[in-house]
Amino acid sequence: MNVIRTVLIAAAVLGAPLATAQTGPKLKVGLMLPASGTYAALGTAIENGFKLYVAEHGGKLAGREIEFAQVDDESDPAKATDNVNKLIKRDSVDVLVGSVHSGVAMAMAKVARDTGTPLIVPNAGAAAVTGSMCAPNIFRSSFSNWQPGYAMGEVMALKGYKSVVTITWKYAAGDESVGGFKDAFEKGGGKVIKELSLAFPDVEFQALLTEIAAAKPDAVYTFFAGGGAVKFVKDYAAAGLKKSTPLYGAGFLTDGTLEAQGADAEGLLTTLHYADDLGTPRDNAFRLAYAKAYQIQPDVYAVQGYDAAQMLAAGLTAVKGDLSKKAEFNAAIEKAKIDSPRGAFTLSRSHNPVQDIYLRKVVGKQNKLVGLASRALADPGLGCRM
Ligand code: BEZ
Repeated sequence: MNVIRTVLIAAAVLGAPLATAQTGPKLKVGLMLPASGTYAALGTAIENGFKLYVAEHGGKLAGREIEFAQVDDESDPAKATDNVNKLIKRDSVDVLVGSVHSGVAMAMAKVARDTGTPLIVPNAGAAAVTGSMCAPNIFRSSFSNWQPGYAMGEVMALKGYKSVVTITWKYAAGDESVGGFKDAFEKGGGKVIKELSLAFPDVEFQALLTEIAAAKPDAVYTFFAGGGAVKFVKDYAAAGLKKSTPLYGAGFLTDGTLEAQGADAEGLLTTLHYADDLGTPRDNAFRLAYAKAYQIQPDVYAVQGYDAAQMLAAGLTAVKGDLSKKAEFNAAIEKAKIDSPRGAFTLSRSHNPVQDIYLRKVVGKQNKLVGLASRALADPGLGCRM
């Protein structure tokens, strides 16, 4: 036996028990995100953000080495229960993180409630997740669909628009985004004169754009995201509507999409809990680290993934990595102040971020901060009984 081999074996034998004693067993995080379909890029950004935070902490949270099990959920609610059960039963994950699509997240929330597995939702804004399905072990690091919609309703009412047509995908995210918009816009004296929609993830917008032109509203409010948002913004401009009928939206319309939308997105105003030029030391440091790690600029989805990891860290730190202390773990996340690149936020009683919503304007390849649309906006959390 040569000397090097002897030393390696001795190190493995002596080192393995030592390492276990110092760090405890690995903690397995089940990442359930889309890696294909119209929301694929959103899934990648969330994964990048989550893994960046873990890497910044040496691959460990509260002393426990983090490992991952992953599934591509394809943003398909019909496959969601099977997919989440794969993570829980086949991969024995300790924690669930997902997903982007509201319908998928609702299926995850049901399984999380039934099994008691901690769930952190890093995007999907379905009201039910922090409403009728709320639970001590379910948290969201992102937003409710209602929040950016409500903020834009206030902005557009203040601008003096009286008649608006809405257009979106017909599922929880679109319906709730438009619902939030309508709540505030009609309270402010405006009227939604037509609500247009198409099935998710269809992108045949032509017939609906013709209806918008015929209705001649003062402006249009929309929820689209990912690949669908790219196509919608381009089709809206190509139909000549950008010049005649101002287009507004929840900020997903222009987040992570500007390279592909090019000049057709220039000048669009949207509302969201992030902007590309917040200029705070916290956000500057995050943006620098993200760009260094991935050679691409971060977007709102990257921030939400990063903050999901911060929330997990807050819970784990309070229980020194011992996830069997469920009540203490949950209470620590519930009480945490998350030092987010978007600005610090806390969670509502139903575990949804209470956060500032910014008005942003597309200038070149950035969603630039125009001002604060809504300060510390909380989702109503309707139907939540813990
Ligand atoms: C949702 O399904 O909740 C959603 C998807 C993409 C962006 C924002 C919300």
